[in-house]
Amino acid sequence: MKIITLFGTETGNAEMVADDIVEALSSDFDASAQDMADFDIGETQEGDIVLLVCSTYGDGELPNSAQPFYDYLTSEQPDLSHLRFATFGLGDSFYATFNQGSQIMAERFLALGAHEITERGLHDASSGELPGDVALAWLKTVVSTF
Ligand SMILES: Cc1cc2nc3c(=O)[nH]c(=O)nc-3n(C[C@H](O)[C@H](O)[C@H](O)COP(=O)(O)O)c2cc1C
Repeated sequence: MKIITLFGTETGNAEMVADDIVEALSSDFDASAQDMADFDIGETQEGDIVLLVCSTYGDGELPNSAQPFYDYLTSEQPDLSHLRFATFGLGDSFYATFNQGSQIMAERFLALGAHEITERGLHDASSGELPGDVALAWLKTVVSTF
C-alpha cells in the first residue's frame, strides 16, 4: 500500500503541507509527495491511498498546479474505484468561496468512484494557525482509519 500525497498549489503552501505529511508518515509507510501537475493517475494501484492537498485561488477556483490534473480527470474520466482518498484544503475564510478548490477536487474523486476515508480537513489562513499543524492533526484521523 502506497500513500501518495498530491498537492495542488499556487504559491507553495500546499507543497509545504504535503512535505510535512510525508515526513510524518515515512517512518511507518511507503509515502511520497508529488505535484498534481506532474502526476499520472494511471500509475496508481489497487489499495493505494491518495491524500489530496489543495488550495483555492481566484474566485473559488483551483490553484494553477491542480488545473491540468482536474482537466484530465474531467475529460478522461478514469475509474478511481481502486483508490481510497482523503482531502486537506488550504483557504482563507476572508473569501466567501472558502476552500472551494479542495471541495471541487474531492467531488471529482468521488464522481470517479474513489472512496473517501475521512472528512475533509481545512486550513483557514485567517485563523493564525500554521497549515502544517492543522494538517498533522487531521492526518491522525486519516491514519486511524488504516
Ligand atoms: C488572489 C488570492 C485569491 C484567493 N482566493 C481564495 C478563495 O477564493 N477561497 C479561499 O478559501 N482562499 C483563497 N485564497 C487563500 C489561499 O487559498 C491561501 O492563502 C492558501 O494558503 C494558499 O495556498 P498555496 O500557496 O498552496 O496556493 C486566495 C488567496 C489569494 C492570494
